[in-house]
Amino acid sequence: MARATATAAPPRPAADPAATAAACAALAELVAAGGVVVLSGAGLSTESGIPDYRGPTGASRRAAPMTYQAFTGDPLARRRYWARSHLGWRLVARARPNAGHHAVARLRERGLVTGIVTQNVDGLHQAAGARPVVDLHGRLDRVLCLDCGRRSPREELDHRLSEANAGWQAEVTAVNPDGDVDLPDAPLDGFRTVDCTACGGVLKPDVVFFGENVPAERVRHCHGLVERARSLLVLGSSLTVMSGHRFVLLAAKHGIPVAIVNQGATRGDPYAAVVVDAPLGRVLPALAARAVG
Ligand SMILES: NC(=O)c1ccc[n+]([C@@H]2O[C@H](COP(=O)([O-])OP(=O)(O)OC[C@H]3O[C@@H](n4cnc5c(N)ncnc54)[C@H](O)[C@@H]3O)[C@@H](O)[C@H]2O)c1
Ligand SMILES: [Zn+2]
Repeated sequence: MARATATAAPPRPAADPAATAAACAALAELVAAGGVVVLSGAGLSTESGIPDYRGPTGASRRAAPMTYQAFTGDPLARRRYWARSHLGWRLVARARPNAGHHAVARLRERGLVTGIVTQNVDGLHQAAGARPVVDLHGRLDRVLCLDCGRRSPREELDHRLSEANAGWQAEVTAVNPDGDVDLPDAPLDGFRTVDCTACGGVLKPDVVFFGENVPAERVRHCHGLVERARSLLVLGSSLTVMSGHRFVLLAAKHGIPVAIVNQGATRGDPYAAVVVDAPLGRVLPALAARAVG
């Protein structure tokens, strides 16, 4: 199934404090029972300074995300992407895990969380010490050659791009999700891309673009994790992207309770046993303290 967007959820009425407290208690009970599989999204990293697409600070009104078809089919689109991404990458590389990532790592360490699947490409779960993590949509800190399949560190490409573009400068007008930034169009034409050092092929960040399939083996692995879970905990995702939402549908199909912590509505709400509408940086440390002491 291609990674594609679908209709977003209708707005959720504002949560009152008593309802939030009751939902947090129900969530703590679910987590204390163990066997939790986490499905995280961009909302978990906003408190680390990486914007999401659809939250209140979301960037969906700005640049449309790059599609696989545009990237592979249009050298100019590719050049523009790398120019923007070359600058945006610095912001992602500088980001540090927040209290939410650390709380998930603690729950994992204590064995209550048995699997972590993230839609994020920023590596912040791992930076907080959580292992293993399934990077459903890949990692921005790796680069893939579309011709020979070689994977290489993003840092290496960063050096090569900096050398090839010494003197090239552009004014960043906005920072977008996925390590992308908005730039005025004109300076992009002076940007030079570089090719694979092994075969001269086309380089792409090792992330699943919109319009591209998540590798089948990775999806199967996540299916197994969810099917063996006692509960599925969604953190900071609108679930607008089907490649994440399908795990909520799978859990619901098997009668596995779904809990969601997200500010604002998600497509998973109708399937959820527990919904907490509050900031993750507040909810998750309290949850970890309650569940593991
Ligand atoms: N950090 C990253 O790696 C990153 C960032 C942006 C987008 N992406 C990619 O884009 C896709 C976006 O889909 P998505 O569902 O993950 O994100 P999304 O932007 O569609 O939804 C994020 C949700 O999180 C909520 N949110 C934001 N900050 C929050 C906070 N502090 N506490 C609680 N809730 C908060 C928002 O209100 C929103 O509903 C993903 O598939 C991902 O690959 C990745
Ligand atoms: Zn190559």
